[in-house]
Amino acid sequence: MTLRALLSSQTDKTISHEVVELDDSRLPDGDVTVAVDYSSLNYKDGLVLTGRGRLVKEYPHVGGIDLAGTVTDSASARWRAGQRVVLTGFRVGEIWWGGYATKARVKGEWLCEVPSGVTTRQVMAIGTAGFTAMLAIDQLEQAGLRPSHGPVLVTGASGGVGSTAVHLLARLGYEVVASTGRAAERRDDLIRFGASDVIERDTIADVPERPLLTERWAGVVDAVGGSTLSHVLAELKYGAGVAACGLAGGDKITSTVIPFLLRGNNLFGIDSVMRPIEGRQEVWQRAASTMDLAMLDAMTTEIGLAELPDAAEAILQGHVAGRWVVNVNR
Ligand SMILES: NC(=O)c1ccc[n+]([C@@H]2O[C@H](COP(=O)([O-])OP(=O)(O)OC[C@H]3O[C@@H](n4cnc5c(N)ncnc54)[C@H](OP(=O)(O)O)[C@@H]3O)[C@@H](O)[C@H]2O)c1
Repeated sequence: MTLRALLSSQTDKTISHEVVELDDSRLPDGDVTVAVDYSSLNYKDGLVLTGRGRLVKEYPHVGGIDLAGTVTDSASARWRAGQRVVLTGFRVGEIWWGGYATKARVKGEWLCEVPSGVTTRQVMAIGTAGFTAMLAIDQLEQAGLRPSHGPVLVTGASGGVGSTAVHLLARLGYEVVASTGRAAERRDDLIRFGASDVIERDTIADVPERPLLTERWAGVVDAVGGSTLSHVLAELKYGAGVAACGLAGGDKITSTVIPFLLRGNNLFGIDSVMRPIEGRQEVWQRAASTMDLAMLDAMTTEIGLAELPDAAEAILQGHVAGRWVVNVNR
């Protein structure tokens, strides 16, 4: 029995990729084997495929930090052949072979069921990005955010986390302001996904000179980090919070404790990778049932395994918009 995979190899410091047929015996030792239909392209996949994040410890490697498909063999009491499953995180695609292959062998404790009513393609269109966006929104709501509180800002809005966050928030009744570096090109789509307004990334990208600026945001889903996060911390309304999801714009922040002390603001860290499995199914279900699936399809681009090396460069350069799914059988 064989599988088809995008195999990444390292020679000296150069990473190369080839679509190859491999014997099943090459798969890692997991208790569940999945026939993969789709994986997706995330910022972290870009880092893995280019070797830039030094996230992979051993080569040859199969990347793909998320996957969806059907169980074919299971020694896990939780899963049986024929069940549709989705996996994100747990460092799959980094230190464990991932979704850029027609088969994956993983641990049953990492899997969730594909939510009812969505295809494996759609669940990967949500993918790590949409799952993270849903976690961020859940976190802000647990802290008290409600649609009546005012506009919610999404940074890096054209990207995967950003575009899914815009759409999910809008569907939940929030007024959404989308910040993007590609406003001219992306405005119409962001409005279609649910944004009420689109602002230029540059207008919120500088570290503010004062610890408090005019109150603007009832909440922020931030995929950018860096000086943008530093800026928006000063613009939170009283009692508002930021869900920090990403670092596409940098990892250093400059702030003071003043927003926390004088405006009761909060900074929440969102981690989708090692998030315990308990509760994940509910997050998937909420994301899937909140999305307008026709709109999800409209924000999805499909590529095959051979297109991934170029796509990896594109996502790191900020040229990818919406969600890119990877049809591993293409
Ligand atoms: N915490 C978690 O568990 C988790 C899960 C998934 C992703 N992430 C992180 O979240 C971030 C977004 O991931 P993604 O998969 O959505 O990536 P993505 O599709 O590449 O989106 C990132 C977006 O950030 C903006 N951006 C890129 N470079 C920038 C820069 N230099 N300065 C300011 N903005 C910039 C761009 O949006 P515009 O063109 O609209 O400006 C880009 O589309 C990444 O840092 C990723 O590692 C974290």
